[in-house]
Amino acid sequence: MTTLSVVGVGYLGAVHAASMASLGHTVIGVDVDERKLEDLAAARAPFFEPGLPELLERTQDSARLSFTSDASVVAPATVHFVCVGTPQSADGLHADLSHVDAAVDSILPHIGPGHLVVGKSTVPVGTAERLAGRVRATGAELAWNPEFLREGKAVQDTLTPDRLVYGVPDGAAGERAAQQLDEVYRSVLDLGTTRIIADYPTAELVKTAANSFLATKISFINAMAELCETAGGDVTVLADAIGIDDRIGRKFLNAGLGFGGGCLPKDIRAFIARADDLGAGEAVSFLKEIDAINLRRRDRMADLAVEVCGGDVDGVHVTVLGAAFKPDSDDTRDSPALAVAAALRDRGAIVTVTDPEAIENASRREPDLTFEPDLTTALRGAGLVLLLTEWTQYRELDPHSVADLVDRPRILDGRNVLDPARWRGAGWTYRALGRP
Ligand code: UDX
Repeated sequence: MTTLSVVGVGYLGAVHAASMASLGHTVIGVDVDERKLEDLAAARAPFFEPGLPELLERTQDSARLSFTSDASVVAPATVHFVCVGTPQSADGLHADLSHVDAAVDSILPHIGPGHLVVGKSTVPVGTAERLAGRVRATGAELAWNPEFLREGKAVQDTLTPDRLVYGVPDGAAGERAAQQLDEVYRSVLDLGTTRIIADYPTAELVKTAANSFLATKISFINAMAELCETAGGDVTVLADAIGIDDRIGRKFLNAGLGFGGGCLPKDIRAFIARADDLGAGEAVSFLKEIDAINLRRRDRMADLAVEVCGGDVDGVHVTVLGAAFKPDSDDTRDSPALAVAAALRDRGAIVTVTDPEAIENASRREPDLTFEPDLTTALRGAGLVLLLTEWTQYRELDPHSVADLVDRPRILDGRNVLDPARWRGAGWTYRALGRP
């Protein structure tokens, strides 16, 4: 077993640290956020992630997992994972790499020959090469090992990933780095997990390309939804019909309000910016359209609300179901649901937002919106209901009982998850994106 450090214990790092400890490694988690550290040290997950609290409890009882803000504590570790965020920069599309640089700098004084620094953060191609010199000056080596975890399934995606990608340098140094990573991931590899060895740029691009592809799939079906709206088709039937072809596949073809979150939107924008820097902007210029299609869905949803209310939402009590960017997450970064809620408020609607887990984060992001944690209370007296994040409890709502709560039975299904016939049968005006 290896002693590891994990620098940055947010969504990625906290799950990675707890997962690696559960595999038997000794793990030191480092972060600058004292509140996060306090939570994790008490085996409390600082964010909602199914399975993480149980994993933290189990691993902390074994004393293999500790957390600190003091980077010098990483000294006993020989493999150091960099798991900090790379948000969109404040002044453009590029990724802000300041956290990655700071994380690497913070461990440089404490590493040396035989140590391996492993980047897991999503970075623009070329970053690993740029950092490698600094790491090698200490005698240590650098690998890039992108993560592919989905929020809500992060523990599963870490412990039983589809693949492990190692970006390593050529020659003996690369072989040693791969061996060190094999030791860390031994039990994951023993499950038969595919391991792909690549150079730095390929490893970095694998992550960006995967996210770009997923975003493209979603925007493709949402573009078809736009056509269905004008031509009078049903995008859900269309998705089933094309998705049955296993070259296309039905996954990630759910039309609706589109993608959000801390990854897909900023990753495709950073990719556009990086490709431009490299003089290869044309190769990914289609991603601008992917982004534009995605954002148009939010406008269309707000327009549909106005249309259903007879041309004006001013003074209408609107209940928004969902604030998180997707179900099973409390993450509201670039949340389509919150964007639509805010747009309707700006158009004069009296908006109440409910969500099972994301209200705290949402109210920090949109302090001027009204939040109501209780679903029944949120629905009472509504003149229009919008289902914008498809939590199970919203998908399973009974149209008859909800009709008794609201003022006017009008619902917009922003995720195409309700049965239109059932809702209409219960007396509702039902509208959705891309459906008649
Ligand atoms: C994504 C990638 O899946 C993951 O591999 C990467 O490491 C990080 O980014 P995540 O952001 O957790 O993960 O969310 P994901 O499950 O991919 O969903 C992204 C967004 O797309 C959500 O807003 C979701 O609602 C939306 N989506 C997804 C659709 O609109 N339609 C679909 O069919 C699927």
